[in-house]
Amino acid sequence: MTTEQPSTQESAVDAGTVIPGSGVGRTRYAVVGLGSRSRMFTTALLTEYRGRGELVALCDPNETRMNYHNKSFADEYGTQPIPTYRPEEFVSMLAEQRVDVVIVTSMDRTHDHYIVAAMENGCDVISEKPLTTDADKCQRILDTQARTGRKLTVSFNYRYAPRNSAVKELIQSGAIGDVLSVHFEWVLDTKHGADYFRRWHRDKRNSGGLMIHKASHHFDLVNWWLGETPRTVFGFGDLRFYGRDNAESRGEAPRPYRSHGSPDLESDPWAIDLAGEPTLRALYLDAEHEDGYIRDRSVFTDGISIEDDMAVLVKYRSGATLSYHLTAYSPWEGYRVMFNGTKGRLELDVEERSYVSGAAQDPNKPGAGSTDPTNPEQNADEPPATPIDAARLTLRPLWDIPRRVEVEEGSGGHGGGDRRLLNDLLGDAEADPLGRAATHVDGAYAMLVGAAANRSFATGAPVEIADLVAFPGGGGQPR
Ligand SMILES: NC(=O)c1ccc[n+]([C@@H]2O[C@H](COP(=O)([O-])OP(=O)(O)OC[C@H]3O[C@@H](n4cnc5c(N)ncnc54)[C@H](O)[C@@H]3O)[C@@H](O)[C@H]2O)c1
Repeated sequence: MTTEQPSTQESAVDAGTVIPGSGVGRTRYAVVGLGSRSRMFTTALLTEYRGRGELVALCDPNETRMNYHNKSFADEYGTQPIPTYRPEEFVSMLAEQRVDVVIVTSMDRTHDHYIVAAMENGCDVISEKPLTTDADKCQRILDTQARTGRKLTVSFNYRYAPRNSAVKELIQSGAIGDVLSVHFEWVLDTKHGADYFRRWHRDKRNSGGLMIHKASHHFDLVNWWLGETPRTVFGFGDLRFYGRDNAESRGEAPRPYRSHGSPDLESDPWAIDLAGEPTLRALYLDAEHEDGYIRDRSVFTDGISIEDDMAVLVKYRSGATLSYHLTAYSPWEGYRVMFNGTKGRLELDVEERSYVSGAAQDPNKPGAGSTDPTNPEQNADEPPATPIDAARLTLRPLWDIPRRVEVEEGSGGHGGGDRRLLNDLLGDAEADPLGRAATHVDGAYAMLVGAAANRSFATGAPVEIADLVAFPGGGGQPR
């Protein structure tokens, strides 16, 4: 442990605070990976859920980042410092702080390590998506979960966005009969999509590429919407837009390797200004001397091993098919998904951000804007600055007039989905006819479709999911 340790019972709340339920029997949480996403969980534990849970430990290789979090917890909530630990102290931290549940919000490539170690040491786990980055790691997680019997949940917040829940409700109600095929396009814009090419995600070993890091959200949605298990995957994926070769082949001038210190910072629409935004500065720029994590690399440099344009076909056990496309360099951000059923068709169009500006003063410029710029992924579903039509859900029954289905959007991350997700994870999970809480099996199938697509990109052949992992006990039905 590397900071002064307060009394563990008092660590998360200021002395004298009356805690609903008196704090007795509160679940003890540790968070591993203290980047931007961790804030959703730490804030919830220090505020709305503090009567039920206690944040007792933080673990990350970067002390500067952990200290920044502790300072902002103190400033905002008046808390004592939460004890901090380095990765090599993870197991001793679990015992020392009597941790019940580990929340994993670290870089994707490290998820398996913490999930397995936590379960081996008697803890339950809440993992951010993706569950992990390749099939071998997934197998290890499945085997450990089966052996230990611990609870492992994956936080698939997209399921909770009201529009996505409405699709599930309609399909489940039989409104379009049996779903025979799905056509799904997701476009990431030059603000959010580009961000994956600036930081650790750009190295496929860290993220599994966008097929796993990003599309596992989308594959999970389809698995859940259909209540189906994916069987066979085939795809093409390539780096066609970002990277030095692509920029050179379009005749573009070379750019500095990072935005910070660049003379073109103001005028380059691809640049983000870490120094100009206090949270970005504190979390990344001021912390980079410790671990060399450069948050603002040029998207047109060498060293990118992930794809930016991906086309995938999936066949499900029921015989249903999915055609899916993901691009990461689009002028706008959102998705279109269409379901063809035996009784009709369902179409969802979602526009999350209408455009990305190149102008320095426009809030839609990368790194600028009214939403939290530290986490474009978290904010991707925030109401856009200039929506044309935020979400449109249309039911087209056979032999009948089409009808618009109204969807009430909530406030907060992912159309209000993050709040509902937190209640399932940290609060009193209520009975949910839509089955939105995702299990480790759901997490595994979502990333396995991506892992199969990655293998297909490399081999040019279709991939059977059953050839990637063996579910212990032969189980493995996602809900
Ligand atoms: N569900 C969502 O919508 C959503 C949104 C954003 C991020 N995420 C997920 O959250 C996770 C974190 O993403 P982020 O945007 O906060 O990234 P980030 O880069 O801001 O933070 C990653 C953190 O992991 C830490 N880390 C690196 N190596 C580590 C190790 N060996 N052990 C422990 N920690 C280590 C880094 O120091 C950093 O603090 C990712 O898995 C990402 O997929 C999910």
